[in-house]
Amino acid sequence: MKEYFNSNKELKNIIRETSEIAGYLWQRGWAERNASNISVNITDLLKKEEISEYSLFPYFTLPLSYPKLAGSYFFVTGTGKRMRDLAWKPMKNLLILQLNGDASGYWIISQTIGDAENFLPTSELPTHLGIHQMIAERGSNEKVVMHTHAHELVTLTHAKEFCDQDRLNQVLWSMHPETVIFVPKGVGFVPYFLPGSVEIAAETLKALQNHDVALWEKHGVFAIGKSVEETFDAIDILAKSAHIFFMCRSANIIPDSFSEAQLAELRKLAENF
Ligand code: 13P
Ligand code: ZN
Repeated sequence: MKEYFNSNKELKNIIRETSEIAGYLWQRGWAERNASNISVNITDLLKKEEISEYSLFPYFTLPLSYPKLAGSYFFVTGTGKRMRDLAWKPMKNLLILQLNGDASGYWIISQTIGDAENFLPTSELPTHLGIHQMIAERGSNEKVVMHTHAHELVTLTHAKEFCDQDRLNQVLWSMHPETVIFVPKGVGFVPYFLPGSVEIAAETLKALQNHDVALWEKHGVFAIGKSVEETFDAIDILAKSAHIFFMCRSANIIPDSFSEAQLAELRKLAENF
């Protein structure tokens, strides 16, 4: 970790929180091998820093540009890195990036050219940056984007019945009251596309226009939030709903589900949260 970051207490705290949550992703069985990636917009924490040695940092061009993110700073997990390793050695598994003036490329400012431990950001960077740009366009205050292989939710997408967004949300909301309260806009369904592609990034943005979480068919989820913990919570709650659904099925119980009146009552409650 470079000197600029060492003295930044807020940054250290958020990296500590991310490490803790990365460990939970692994414990939940959602982060096999290098599965999962996290990015956090840390522009507010770093904009005061005087970073001048740009020629020392590795620079990469992006396949698309993200004008709303020009000059912004992020930390992102490294491609091929394991969440269980991030849990105890964060700076060996994540990178700090700064986008250039027209947001068509980035410097890795946590490394210098020739560092023995050079590594690259997550292969899902196009989706992460696309979502951060969407957040900037909306002017909302989410800072965190999290992708993980929450298998309880992925399992649903192996059934054609649940590749229907309305049906998917109807089931998830009707299994547990918390799901309506904390994931009120529900899940946007993203049909299968190649992971890491700009196509899947574009489809994810569409899904997140009107939903809290995007569910990638046969792959995983993307969630956004104001903190790493809050982002994890949304996925955790959805996974709980899916788990209850499968437990009912495996016990040969047809879930009773909430009535429309009960759902409406919960939605009202959600408005005040
Ligand atoms: P990365 O190791 O490139 O972050 O990929 C993990 C993953 O989950 C891809 O969808
Ligand atoms: Zn993945």
